[in-house]
Amino acid sequence: MNLRKYRVPEIVYGDNSIGLAAKFAKNFNANKILLVTDSGVQKAGWVKELEESLQENQLNYIIYNNITPNPKDYEVNEGAKLYIKEKCNLIIAIGGGSVIDCAKGIGIVCTNGKDINEFEGVDNIRVPMTPLICIPTTAGSSADISQFAIILNTHKQKKIAIISKALVPDVAIIDAITTTSMDAELTTNTGIDALVHAIEAYVSNASSVFTNINALKAIELLSNNLLTAVNEPYNVEARNNVMKGSMLAGIAFSNASLGIIHAMAHSLGGLKDLPHGECNAILMDYCIDFNFESCPEKFKDIYISMGGDIKTPDDQIKAKLTDKVKQLARSLGVATSFNHYNVEDINIEQITTNAFYDPCIATNPRVVELEDIKKLFTKLLY
Ligand SMILES: [Fe+2]
Repeated sequence: MNLRKYRVPEIVYGDNSIGLAAKFAKNFNANKILLVTDSGVQKAGWVKELEESLQENQLNYIIYNNITPNPKDYEVNEGAKLYIKEKCNLIIAIGGGSVIDCAKGIGIVCTNGKDINEFEGVDNIRVPMTPLICIPTTAGSSADISQFAIILNTHKQKKIAIISKALVPDVAIIDAITTTSMDAELTTNTGIDALVHAIEAYVSNASSVFTNINALKAIELLSNNLLTAVNEPYNVEARNNVMKGSMLAGIAFSNASLGIIHAMAHSLGGLKDLPHGECNAILMDYCIDFNFESCPEKFKDIYISMGGDIKTPDDQIKAKLTDKVKQLARSLGVATSFNHYNVEDINIEQITTNAFYDPCIATNPRVVELEDIKKLFTKLLY
């Protein structure tokens, strides 16, 4: 258990850096690029900006944009067919977590010649992925940094987690200006996702000095700036602080992995096609309460990084921290229960089992039993 690994892509961070993607594509000797995106990002104008720089550099490309939130296995397979048909040799993904996860899926399907669902789990990718340059347009998933891809297996109606260093992109070009086009709801959902990445990575049983420093700084940046970014979408300083927080959280969770919040969010969100960040937001305080006694000193660090008083007596930290995260969620206007979704028909055994076998459970700081997850879901849903 003393062994730790640490891997990040090449990161270029800065306002108006989108155009650099063409330079990197040339470095990779791109003959034809599969430009993976979705219609929302196209409407916001960011794809046009990228296309102009590709055209200026005489780079050939074809767009694949048939991607929905919680990307589906058939979308990955369709993109892979296009990549092969068009004889592409590089992918540029520009978009949120769904777009980038789908692009990663396309990359491994093309080099390994297998259906995307066959890669589920940890270290199941034999051949490295195609070259991949990512440009995130949301501040939350950090799919541009991480060794994770989450894809919906539509046959089983279940999100699968694919985890491998083969999924770390070659280059992440991070330009916080692109996040100014996110509306308040998307800013909130993606920002809460990033905060939960940092919290779960910090308390993970695979955390290390390399990941802890990133996780705590992420918690501070996100909790101090998320509300401003929501209320003032064109506040570039706040957008940059949230993006930096998201990026640092991504570095932390990619290397320390996650925990029970993500395991349960994947399970429920996959079954009902719910927004990932919202699932995390609703689960957050219940799961902090569940995990608290396994590492109270770490939760105290989180509390202080969120602006809590360092002099708070230890026996009050749990209540104050859960209050603080609830208060943040409330101020952001995020849902605090699943009541507004049609969840009555959910098979509790099925979502419990799926969460229990999610790879994120392995790094939760408290050992999780099947019965624990069932109790938490029952408390949340009924
Ligand atoms: Fe997440």
